[in-house]
Formats: sequence, C-alpha cells, structure tokens
Amino acid sequence: MKKFLDLGMQPLANKYLTRNDLKNKKKEKLYHLEVGFDKKTKLVSILNKVSSEKMFDNKYPYRSSMSKTMTKSFKILANKITKVYNPKIILEIGSNDGSLIKNFKKKKVICVEPCKNLAIITKNKGFKTYADYWNINLAKKVKSKHGKVDLIYSANTLSHISDLNSVFKSIAHVLSDDGILIIEDPSLLECLKKVAYDQFYNEHIYVFSLLSIKNILQKFNLEVFDTEILKTHGGSIRYFIKRTKNFNIKVNISVKKQLKNELRFRMDKFSTYITFKKKVEKSKIKLVNLFHKIKKDKKKIIGYGSTAKSVTVLNYCKIKSESLDYFVDTTPDKTKKYMPGTHIYVDQYKQDLLDGVDYIFLGAWNFKEEIFKKEKKYIKNGGKFITHIPTPQII
Ligand code: TMP
Repeated sequence: MKKFLDLGMQPLANKYLTRNDLKNKKKEKLYHLEVGFDKKTKLVSILNKVSSEKMFDNKYPYRSSMSKTMTKSFKILANKITKVYNPKIILEIGSNDGSLIKNFKKKKVICVEPCKNLAIITKNKGFKTYADYWNINLAKKVKSKHGKVDLIYSANTLSHISDLNSVFKSIAHVLSDDGILIIEDPSLLECLKKVAYDQFYNEHIYVFSLLSIKNILQKFNLEVFDTEILKTHGGSIRYFIKRTKNFNIKVNISVKKQLKNELRFRMDKFSTYITFKKKVEKSKIKLVNLFHKIKKDKKKIIGYGSTAKSVTVLNYCKIKSESLDYFVDTTPDKTKKYMPGTHIYVDQYKQDLLDGVDYIFLGAWNFKEEIFKKEKKYIKNGGKFITHIPTPQII
C-alpha cells in the first residue's frame, strides 16, 4: 500500500459527544487518516485501521431509513430481486434498521448486523437477526441452521470490514452453487471525479473499484456478471456476482464498460492518485477561504446533514463552531449532541432552524436533490448553499 493522501488527525466519524462529555472534557481519540493505493491489487484503502469493535457498537447512530432516496433505492432493488431471482432465502450483511429487508416476507430473510442498537430493531419486528460481525464462524452457523443461501446482499458494509479475505471466504461458504451475491458501495471512479475525499473516514476502510473487486473475487472463484451505476452515497456501484463456474448466467456488457471507464481514468496508475491528492489540497484552501470570506461579511452559516463525510471535511479543513453555528439532522442518535472533533452542535431538524440563515453547508451533498426539494422555501427566500463537491462553491 503506497500512501497518496494525508487527511490529518481525525476522530471516529460516528462518535458524537454529549453535553456532559464536553463538560467533563472527555478526551477523544484521534487517528491519523492516510489513504494509499496498492499497485498489485488496485485496492484503495486507509492505512491506519481502527478495530471494528471501537466503531460498530451498541450506539451506532446511522440509520439508512432516514433518507427517502435510500428507501426508494432499496424498494426498487427488492422488486428486482423478487422478479429476476425470486430467492428462497435472502441474507443481508449489515442490515442496519431493516430498510431493504422490510420489502420481503419475514420467513425469507436473515439479517446480520453487529450494532446491537440496530439489530434489535429488525429482531423486534420479527426478522431472524444475528447481532454479530460477518465472519467464517457466523457463516458456518448460518449454513448449519438455514442451509446454503441463494441470495446475499450487502450495501455500504463490506467497505467497512478490514479483512476482505475473511468476508469473501465466508460468503463463498454459504452461497449456493447458483446463488447470487449483490454488493453496493461508493464508487472510486466517482470519488476521484468529484474530488469527494470525504468518502474516506475511519469506517470507510476501502473505496472499491471494479478493478479491485474483480481481483479479490478471483481468489474465491467468484466473478462480477453485471454492474449498475447508482446515485446513492454520492455515486455507487452495485455489483452482481456469481460463482465463476455458474455458466448459466452470462456476463453483461456493463462489466466491460465499467472496466473501460476505470482504465480510461487511469485508475490502475499511482500518478492518478497523486493528481487527486493535489486536487484535495486545493479544495481545502478554497473551502477555508470561502468560509473566511462569508464570516468576514458577518453572515450566518449552518450545516445540513451531519454525515460521517462532513466529519472528515470539517476536521481536515479545521472548520469549527466559530464559522459554522450548528448542524441540522433528522437522525435521533446524532441530534442534541456534538460532532466528533469539531464539537459543532447538531440540532434536531426543524424547518424554523433555517430562518435567518444566510448559507447552508451541504454536509449531506449526496442528498442534494432531496434536500433542495425539501427546502424550497429557504431557497425562495434567498438562502444559499455551500458545497465542496466537485469544488468549493456557493449554489
Ligand atoms: P449519509 O450521507 O452517511 O447517508 O448520511 C446522511 C445524513 O444526512 C444522515 O445523518 C441523515 C441526514 N439527512 C437529514 O438530516 N435530512 C435529510 O433530508 C437527508 C436526506 C439526510
């Protein structure tokens, strides 16, 4: 792994602080966030990995059901799964609060979710849920209890797990011979194109490309047979995977196209990542200057969508509560708390909180359309947004 980007010292992106934590001057642990590229495997990953137990505990705040964009995307996929594959059993790795599986019959679903506060949600709704990390022990347990599984799905989860060999070995252990694995995660090509350096935080150990996924899968006799480009999470790829020896399924042209696009962007070359790093450094200067200029004019800036991505940006650019008054967010476990590192207050979203605000920093830039639709009144009244994607600007 050769380093190409240094995003400074960063706190764990989902460890929100309470008022008491601040009063007691609770010390936050910071980790050096550096990103590297492996020439051989084409994998891009952060260099200093934090143990899963520290990040995914019984207080994990992120809820995928908080966004209409995500729930809609899951619903469309669920319909496709039923129509095209009609599986007997669906195993979801990282089922969060059940946004995808709620679209299926209870007896068809197995959930795996290590964050106990989330696992309890699907469990209480009657879905078979394993509140555990995905590894070979759990895969063996699942297989002995339920037999082989004909559809495995995982969204925005595998990029959080350090040991990819263990992940895919465990998947290969339970997947039936003609079974399908569907995974989706942020796309490295989109991340590079959009200068979305905030896709990197302690939890996002990897940002995958088809180039890198292909290499890992090969080791386990698995292959991608189709890809779908998604708008979710700032640009993602959904990979449809089968066993290599399953000749009943043909490889779609989309796979060749995606590979061609990645190679055209020279994603197999280290120099591409150095170009990206230079763009990131410029982006930081531009964003800091933009905030500085607005604050000099005594204007009010707040943030919208207290994302893990915002934590990376704000800590990297050292933007604190002197320039950004507060964030608004809809997630109950993030609100009435303080953001990791910068200690900016996160208030429970109410439209009134946007009154008298001159600029809103789009923390959840990946939900720009959804937010713009919701905040028509703010926009009509002359309110402006700040985004750093693809370059810092006012919109
Ligand atoms: P994500 O980018 O990691 O999915 O997080 C999105 C965050 O933005 C999540 O904390 C919920 C928040 N959010 C709002 O507060 N209001 C909204 O309208 C949307 C779409 C998201």
